[in-house]
Amino acid sequence: MQKSRVFSGIQPTGNIHLGNYLGAVKNWVENQEKYENIFCVVNSHAITIPQNPSILREKTYDLCAMLLACGINPKKSILFIQSKIQEHTSLAWLLTCITPMGDLSRMTQFKDKSAKNPKQILAGLFNYPNLMSADILLYQSNLVPVGEDQKQHIELARDTAIRFNRDFGETFVVPEPLILKEGARIMGLDDPTKKMSKSSSDKPNHSIALIDTPETIIKKFKKATTDSEGIIAFDKNRAGVYNLLNIYQCFTKQKVEEIEAEFAGQGYGKLKERVAEAVIEGLRPIRQAYEKLSSEKDYLHRILQEGESRAREIAATTYKETKEKIGLI
Ligand code: TYM
Repeated sequence: MQKSRVFSGIQPTGNIHLGNYLGAVKNWVENQEKYENIFCVVNSHAITIPQNPSILREKTYDLCAMLLACGINPKKSILFIQSKIQEHTSLAWLLTCITPMGDLSRMTQFKDKSAKNPKQILAGLFNYPNLMSADILLYQSNLVPVGEDQKQHIELARDTAIRFNRDFGETFVVPEPLILKEGARIMGLDDPTKKMSKSSSDKPNHSIALIDTPETIIKKFKKATTDSEGIIAFDKNRAGVYNLLNIYQCFTKQKVEEIEAEFAGQGYGKLKERVAEAVIEGLRPIRQAYEKLSSEKDYLHRILQEGESRAREIAATTYKETKEKIGLI
């Protein structure tokens, strides 16, 4: 039986953090055998917010190395850099021409990001979801494994695929989001009412970066915001404790009842210590592999080159068909 095709992407801005890992990358790695996989470092998305060119270049390669360190296996998955394949931006234009402005202005990510920088809202940020739809639809992807924050964008990609198929004939596979319950929304340690995000990484205790040292991880968890109730239970109304337990569960894979029994009668100090230990252990092999890969630049470039040529074949076929259907020569 043919395997379903998975596509997903991650932006090379800031440092990849625990939310990215638990919401997305860990699931990509764990399901590699089950699916046919395509993973992309989406650097063209990153420039919808102004970037320093040399830092962007460096971060793009660093993130590719980090994804391999996390366990993306080039024998099982295609890994490539978005800007290497022109069909992404070309298809985004075709999709832009069939997408109503109203659909784009409903996107919560656009509203949030433009509110953070109201004096400089770029048209690229507004059109961002069309580039994301292009990424997904180019590869005829069945499933898109992401954190909860990307659900709305995938729904738009679905609507766009359905609209194109209706108006120009069957062309695109209509993709489904793949969002796992645990890890789908990891919150900031300093403020558990806000999603852990790269754009808040200037706040020292907001997020755990995958490259943080064990000492830093312990320090950040010690400072994590909790509450004054003193009861350790999976209670969504107590966001801080819930977030810590959720992170613990992602790494230990224990059941809710087992975790609650383990911590019965314990204080928050113990909880923070155990969560930090689980995270340190979970991230240790990743940090080690990342350090090794950082000195193997030739290997990294070879993997990316191979990924690019395999991805290009699929992307070129879809783009050619789409362009012709729409009447472009
Ligand atoms: P990005 O780079 O912001 O995040 C990468 C992945 O990490 C997930 N994520 C989280 N999951 C749980 N808790 C959090 N706090 C958290 N923060 C981030 C995101 O949901 C995402 O899965 N637009 C996308 C990148 C993209 C893409 C695509 C994804 C571009 N094209 C095509 C899928 C398919 C983004 O900005 O992700």
